[in-house]
Amino acid sequence: MGTLDGRIAIVTGASRGIGAAIVGKLAAEGATVVACARSIESCPGASLCLKVDVSNAEQVDACVKETVAKFGRVDILVNNAGITKDGLLMRMSDADWDQVIDINLKGTFLFTRAVSRPMMKNKGADGQPSGGAIVNIASVVGITGNAGQANYTSSKGGVIALTKTVAKELGSRQIRCNAVAPGFIRSQMTDVLPEDVKNQYAQTIPLKRFGEATDVANAVAWLASDAASYVTGQVISVNGGMV
Ligand SMILES: NC(=O)c1ccc[n+]([C@@H]2O[C@H](COP(=O)([O-])OP(=O)(O)OC[C@H]3O[C@@H](n4cnc5c(N)ncnc54)[C@H](O)[C@@H]3O)[C@@H](O)[C@H]2O)c1
Repeated sequence: MGTLDGRIAIVTGASRGIGAAIVGKLAAEGATVVACARSIESCPGASLCLKVDVSNAEQVDACVKETVAKFGRVDILVNNAGITKDGLLMRMSDADWDQVIDINLKGTFLFTRAVSRPMMKNKGADGQPSGGAIVNIASVVGITGNAGQANYTSSKGGVIALTKTVAKELGSRQIRCNAVAPGFIRSQMTDVLPEDVKNQYAQTIPLKRFGEATDVANAVAWLASDAASYVTGQVISVNGGMV
């Protein structure tokens, strides 16, 4: 028996990296998973793959509608889609600022807004409101700041503030909202770093190594499950002890 048996979950940015690991973990715990990404060739473990740009309100609303039409409800939302467009503040273009905020922060807002109504309608076997669980993927640099990432750190700091606000606004409807703030995780996002830079970063981490996508997925699955039923508005760091 899995900790998420019978739950319907939406995971964004699900085609690779941390998102793909989250899809696999939630499915392994018994959830029916709707995987969303801009381009999806295959989504192992998912029951449905949808092409969705998280910064497009119409596509986001259509994805949630299709999920409810097909599976009857949404119990779990994982806002994982994210990009970086790094550069020094002085030289950062408006376009690079806007794109990162639109995908990382506005995308999280759009999906949260879209699932809020269906989640409010959810009822458990006892007929009582059962709400839902939203897990946002933030970042350690959304807590600490980081030179060269004004757009990205602002988006992730915004995601943390949004998480706390949603927890307060929707708590009375039994909708929990938490964030996971990963440190350096091995993925295509960090693979682009030169090897010597990766080694330098690793030396600053108390555990002296990058984390794996599954480390993040395990924290997400716990926050989404009933084991965390009294946890909301929190930021769980999965960063090898960096902060
Ligand atoms: N890898 C790390 O070290 C690290 C650290 C902290 C936080 N994070 C966060 O974890 C999340 C996943 O990152 P990752 O490392 O797996 O990166 P990744 O680049 O491998 O994956 C990002 C995913 O987001 C999707 N995506 C991008 N723009 C999208 C859009 N507009 N609409 C829908 N999907 C979109 C991509 O298609 C991809 O599937 C991101 O939010 C990232 O900011 C990663």
